[in-house]
Amino acid sequence: MTSFAGRVAVVTGGTRGIGRAVAARFEAAGATVVTLARTEPRQAVGRFLAADLGSRAAVRAAFATVAAEFGRVDVLVNNAGGARPGPALDYPEAAARAAFDLNVLGVLYAAQCAYPLTPEHGGAAIVNIGSVAGTRPSPGTAVYGAAKAALAALTKSLALEWAPRIRVNCVLPGPVLTESLTAYHGGPEAAEAVGRGLPMGRMAEPDDIAEACLFLASEQARHISGAELLVHGGGEVPGFNRAAREAARPRGFGEGK
Ligand SMILES: NC(=O)c1ccc[n+]([C@@H]2O[C@H](COP(=O)([O-])OP(=O)(O)OC[C@H]3O[C@@H](n4cnc5c(N)ncnc54)[C@H](OP(=O)(O)O)[C@@H]3O)[C@@H](O)[C@H]2O)c1
Repeated sequence: MTSFAGRVAVVTGGTRGIGRAVAARFEAAGATVVTLARTEPRQAVGRFLAADLGSRAAVRAAFATVAAEFGRVDVLVNNAGGARPGPALDYPEAAARAAFDLNVLGVLYAAQCAYPLTPEHGGAAIVNIGSVAGTRPSPGTAVYGAAKAALAALTKSLALEWAPRIRVNCVLPGPVLTESLTAYHGGPEAAEAVGRGLPMGRMAEPDDIAEACLFLASEQARHISGAELLVHGGGEVPGFNRAAREAARPRGFGEGK
């Protein structure tokens, strides 16, 4: 895998969950890492800068610091995201606006600020963290899914407009075993039970997503731009089809005898 020595990687939301794993993976690959989030963690990976991604002014100020301290951006992972779950019928306006501010406009602001700091002759990469929620409906994620679908569209437009200077791709995780998702499911045991229902038999770990980001930012992915990479362990088994799937599952050596 490409060494990222001498390169600067900015990871939004790089203080917890997936973003922290992404930041740590790029640091391990040799990059100088900058993490952006609203709250400074006790132990940051790389240089931490406080910024609310939903505020264009705050994003600009953070990238001005990146420019002053590091002078360049080679990789931008737009990971900060999320939205409160809730039924569409009475989803609050403020929450809906905040979801689009963070998951769509925050990504646009960060990408706009990163552009002039990338090498003119190519080699830079942006990786946006979308979600399978942007590709198919599920109860309680109407706004979140719509915002992630918009992010996927934004990814493809940026890839088109900014080639060959910057490759722009999207990673679409299925459920990832983070603290937030564990809490959402009501604790570790409940979260593991959800994972057992997935084709791979477990949820993704944050590191699984980090590896996909590293690949898409690497020289190995030099001709990949405008792509959506599903990292969901084989997808989801529709509830109505679980029994059929069990019956169709090939048995391993010694299994079922
Ligand atoms: N976990 C999953 O199962 C899953 C599945 C599919 C996709 N995703 C996507 O993956 C990404 C990361 O998810 P996660 O579960 O790792 O999230 P998480 O654990 O909740 O962490 C979110 C990170 O983003 C930062 N953040 C949140 N709002 C921000 C804002 N307005 N401005 C700046 N930073 C902000 C948080 O720090 P502060 O709160 O201090 O700002 C934190 O560092 C999100 O885009 C999410 O939609 C997650």
